Order: sequence, then structure tokens, then C-alpha cells
Amino acid sequence: MSLAQKYAREVQLILAKYPADQKRSAVMPLLYLAQREEGYITRAAMEEIAGLLEMTATEVAAIVGFYTLYHDRKEGKYRMQVCTDLPCALRGADKFIESLCSNLGIRVGETTPDGLITIEAVMCLAACDRAPMFQVQSADGLEYHEDMTVDKTMELIRALGRETKEPAR
Ligand code: FES
Repeated sequence: MSLAQKYAREVQLILAKYPADQKRSAVMPLLYLAQREEGYITRAAMEEIAGLLEMTATEVAAIVGFYTLYHDRKEGKYRMQVCTDLPCALRGADKFIESLCSNLGIRVGETTPDGLITIEAVMCLAACDRAPMFQVQSADGLEYHEDMTVDKTMELIRALGRETKEPAR
């Protein structure tokens, strides 16, 4: 089912915010809506958004590729984005991400076999004095975690796993 069919009202509300001759500006909120659905933006969704906004699918794909918070393939339910930029590296971010991955049995950029966690290395997240730090991206948005240790992070991952298993109330 297309976005316009499934989320007709939301799509209309987004489009109504922009003048007809500037509707391309609706690309970001429409991509956000599309990503909320599956945790990533499918090729079909990119093509649909391109059609709605009179853009090419390549232009839409370029925007998805440019922004680190948009994704074009399915990964873990939670994306743990660890800052490994220089100031954080000086506070141990490289060692942190390496030992976190080793605890999870994956490499940077990979997803745990249960599909729960993807570990990504990213550039500055504006918490340079609080490393090791990361943000967790999920369908609910973004959550920051600062001054972390591998033990605290593994506890957080176990909690996310329990939350995922609990039936929705
Ligand atoms: S360098 Fe890591 S948050 Fe700024």
C-alpha cells in the first residue's frame, strides 16, 4: 500500500504546509513518514515521494544518502550511533566501540543476529565532552546516552531486548 493510501491525512497535512511552487520542500517530512513505517525508506517510497513532489527518484535518493538519519535498507530495530570523531576518540570512543562490537559479536556497521541492534560509527553529535557517547535511533526518535561504559551499554541493550519482547499494552 502506498504512503498516500495508508497515511492520506498525514500526507495531505504535510503537503498543505508548502506553497504549490515549493512543494519539493516537503521531501524531508515525507521521508520521515516513510521511514517510520519500516525503519528505512524503500525504493517504492522514494519513487512515490518523487512523484508527489515532481522530483526525480534520483534526487530523492540523493537526499536519503546525504543525511545520516535516513536509511535505505533494513537494519536493526535500534541503531546505536557511536561518535568516533576526534574529540570523542581522545576520550576512548574507538576502544569503546571496538569492545562493544566484540561483546555483541559483530563489526561496526553490522546488526546483531536477532535484528535488535545495529552499531554505526558517526561524526560529531555535539556532546564532545561526554564521550564515550552515542545516540539510539528507533521508530520513536532519538535518545542520547553520554559518559557510557561498555557494561552500561550492554545493560541498555538487554533492556531494549526485554522491551521488544514485551507485548504492547
Ligand atoms: S566529537 Fe563526538 S560528540 Fe563531538
